[in-house]
Amino acid sequence: MCGIVGYIGGEQAAPILLEGLSRLEYRGYDSAGVAVFDGQTGSLAVRKAKGRLQVLSDQLHGGADLDSTAGVGHTRWATHGAPSDVNSHPQVSRSGKIAVVHNGIIENYAELKAFLMNQGVSFTSETDTEVVAQLIEYFYDGDLLQAVGRVLHRIQGAYALGILCADCPDQIIAVRKDSPLILGYGEGCNFIASDVTAILRHTRRVGYMEDGELAVLTREGVQCYNHLMQPIEKEIVTVDWEIDAAEKGGYEHFMFKEIMEQPEALRRCLSPRIREGEAVFEDFSLSKDFLQNMRRIYIVACGSSYHVGMVGKYHLERLTRIPVEVALGSEFRYMDPIVDEHTLVIVISQSGETLDTMAALREARRLGGHILSIVNVVGSSIARESDQVLYTWAGPEIAVATTKAYTTQLALLSLLALWLGKRLGTVPEKDCREMVAAFRELPGKMEEVLSHRDDIQYFASQYFNHDSIFFMGRNLDYALGLEGSLKLKEISYIHSEAYASGELKHGTISLIEDGTLVVALGTYGKLFAKAMSNVVEVKSRGASVLALTTYPHQEEMARTADVVMTIPDIHALLLPILGVVPLQLFAYYVALMRGCDIDKPRNLAKSVTVE
Ligand code: M6R
Repeated sequence: MCGIVGYIGGEQAAPILLEGLSRLEYRGYDSAGVAVFDGQTGSLAVRKAKGRLQVLSDQLHGGADLDSTAGVGHTRWATHGAPSDVNSHPQVSRSGKIAVVHNGIIENYAELKAFLMNQGVSFTSETDTEVVAQLIEYFYDGDLLQAVGRVLHRIQGAYALGILCADCPDQIIAVRKDSPLILGYGEGCNFIASDVTAILRHTRRVGYMEDGELAVLTREGVQCYNHLMQPIEKEIVTVDWEIDAAEKGGYEHFMFKEIMEQPEALRRCLSPRIREGEAVFEDFSLSKDFLQNMRRIYIVACGSSYHVGMVGKYHLERLTRIPVEVALGSEFRYMDPIVDEHTLVIVISQSGETLDTMAALREARRLGGHILSIVNVVGSSIARESDQVLYTWAGPEIAVATTKAYTTQLALLSLLALWLGKRLGTVPEKDCREMVAAFRELPGKMEEVLSHRDDIQYFASQYFNHDSIFFMGRNLDYALGLEGSLKLKEISYIHSEAYASGELKHGTISLIEDGTLVVALGTYGKLFAKAMSNVVEVKSRGASVLALTTYPHQEEMARTADVVMTIPDIHALLLPILGVVPLQLFAYYVALMRGCDIDKPRNLAKSVTVE
């Protein structure tokens, strides 16, 4: 999704803006632009280019061409108007006096545009954002803050805005509603950004803007206002992410780096939460009363986070005997969900900014549910709007295809299931101890899986030319297949479907013919015999089978499948966490061999902040 960076200070702004934007490239974009105050002419200099940020950077010689110490920059992910130079941001008002960068959608832009056109204002772009720039100029009579305030009363939708005015060279105005925007506090300089990675090189001191807030940034400081335009104090927090964590550190791709970081991420996520053979959540608790009366659990998420929820449902129902519904964030608010004060609503999101998930959270809260979120990005919107939050502590995840966030989300949800089962008395003490012991073994066993990555690379070289790949599995392996299939299709562009093995014979098996590749998942020991019979079923229709199982079942699987990937055996609670790693690697190597843009797959954004 779109990325915003703003800087006001004593240094040349454009190189800082371009560097900040490069940190936001992972979010997905199709064009980029910057606007700065040109001190010599007293006007705004705006430069924009369709395509990669590098195109803009080359045009500006890395920013050296723009002499200015304040400005805003933007990477655009097209919603209103095709990707083009003219539709890129910043969008400017007719006189060129106001420049705006925007993340989100102005829902009533057509109505406002018609109004302005009636007043004789002409438009140059197809964007909703230009309406904001034009409207600010329409209301501007020398008081920028007041003009912005009047515009905010009229626009509807989701927006994070960075605003420059040629008459006010010493300030940037920032606004946030339903779209992320943070403030960065430096020494003699200040920043705005869509996320912290964009400014981490310059400062770790950040403030999270809340919905409806506005901020005026100068070189000396930042003044924030609430939605009533009353001055407010903003809490400044120090971010502890290392800069290296947001850089490739010698790896060719962020995705590969993040796959390799998983054992460490799991240690960070789990170690503080496992003590003396027990799951311990210092950052979270539920009252005895709530636990005793809890009737239902909802898990709400999108994409891979939703797949975490699919696994979580099996675990939570097994360990707590409480019914669990898993809902897509984009469906939840339209399905009249049964949520009340006896419902625990678990919201899962890496970014903490996914708009559909956020909307589901708000609906669940409106209905009275208790909201617990599992989030990676500290201080993100979902984290802040939840009753309670469990952070995955996976570190910054830059590749669009999630890996370490997925495994840490799943580890945390599994630990939560165990913790709840223990509190509810639905898991015998002995089983609890066994599971906790398994959590301790998890990072080491994952290192072992990763050490066999060359085998997966070889398998990928055998199959990367297929144009359709099926994944099948039962129960935990079905949920695992959903994630394996998504990983493959999002970065390799190979058509892929995941099926519950038992469903194949109800239709899909008609697609299996000579040479069709089926990735058969048979890690769950309890259902291994069933997995085997499905492998036989597709083999006898001509499929090539690439199987995944655990060491104890390797030999038996190898008698029927063409190729077998193996993982160490571990308690069923944690099998999908180990099992997903070969699937991540398989997707990665296949995409690599097909020459795909792995970290930034086409049409996708890391953080989906529009509906
Ligand atoms: O940040 P979130 O976890 O809320 O994101 C949800 C999905 O957009 C995300 O998991 C997406 O499916 C990934 N690209 C999958 O790799």
